[in-house]
Amino acid sequence: MDMPVRPRRLRSSPALRKMVRETRMDASSLVYPLFVVEGENKKEEISSMPGQYRFSIDRMGEKLEELAKAGVNAVLFFGIPAHKDAAGSGAYAPDGIVQRALRVAKREFPHLYLIADLCMCEYTSHGHCGILQGQEVDNDQTLEYLARIAVSQAQAGADMIAPSDMMDGRIRAIRSSLDGHGFSNTPVMAYAAKFASAFYGPFREAADSAPAFGDRKTYQMDYHNRREALKEIALDVEEGADIVMVKPAMAYGDLIREAKELVRIPVAAYSVSGEYAMVKAAAAAGYLDEEKTICEMAVCAYRSGADVYISYFAKELAYFMKEGIIG
Ligand code: PBG
Repeated sequence: MDMPVRPRRLRSSPALRKMVRETRMDASSLVYPLFVVEGENKKEEISSMPGQYRFSIDRMGEKLEELAKAGVNAVLFFGIPAHKDAAGSGAYAPDGIVQRALRVAKREFPHLYLIADLCMCEYTSHGHCGILQGQEVDNDQTLEYLARIAVSQAQAGADMIAPSDMMDGRIRAIRSSLDGHGFSNTPVMAYAAKFASAFYGPFREAADSAPAFGDRKTYQMDYHNRREALKEIALDVEEGADIVMVKPAMAYGDLIREAKELVRIPVAAYSVSGEYAMVKAAAAAGYLDEEKTICEMAVCAYRSGADVYISYFAKELAYFMKEGIIG
């Protein structure tokens, strides 16, 4: 048959398929989210995220060591305080859970890159991501708190600050507060296009951060919107973000791609708790092959344009990358 172009030719052997792969990645782009709780000798499994745990500070080293051994060198810290209040004061306390965890991690694992998630929902008694005025989150008052939390995280040893609250103007407020306190070299990774998503369900159990009333739709984005996501991303760049994030990852590949085309800074994608939980549940039921599924999810995020991939499967992915199964 006269057919000069035969795409199958380049798929004819494993070596050739690997040679012409378009998406290349390695473990240095992976970030693992870690939950740290108050107390001692705790390693509590999160029931909606089998295989994921909340560690007390004295035991988090087990996980950090495991990650370092696997080649995952960046960790995103979430703190779960023992006491919550209306102002989320545990988020900026010098001896708060995340501040102490960061200090210990910095001392014991100096080679690890420590990223602090910056949000108030794990610390507020009402579970919202800011200060309430009646039933509403007061944007501008919340900015003062975010700015203060960022500095306290940087002082505790955070190498990077990652605000996930979605208040207007937070990147500018955080940037100027960091700069004013001698942290002008601490980068900010903005959760820039963060959608109000059902995929965060398991996280809220993990972090005990479900809102006590209402939802997060007045600050997190409506998932019907694409141009609005680009507006949020552009704004965060203008305000000084060093990295912009799209979250969730799996169902939002279109926006990862658009973010990549829009900005000249790195793009991160966060494969969230619900993505993890779905894979785990389907694999346990025998419906999906876990390894193949997580490889495909990750590669598709990178193919969409992600430079940084935040995943609860980071350790496994590092192995697959090292072995050349992906990447
Ligand atoms: C805090 C925060 C959330 C996640 C990251 N930071 C939860 C939320 O916004 O409700 C979700 C992470 C995940 O689902 O894995 N605001």
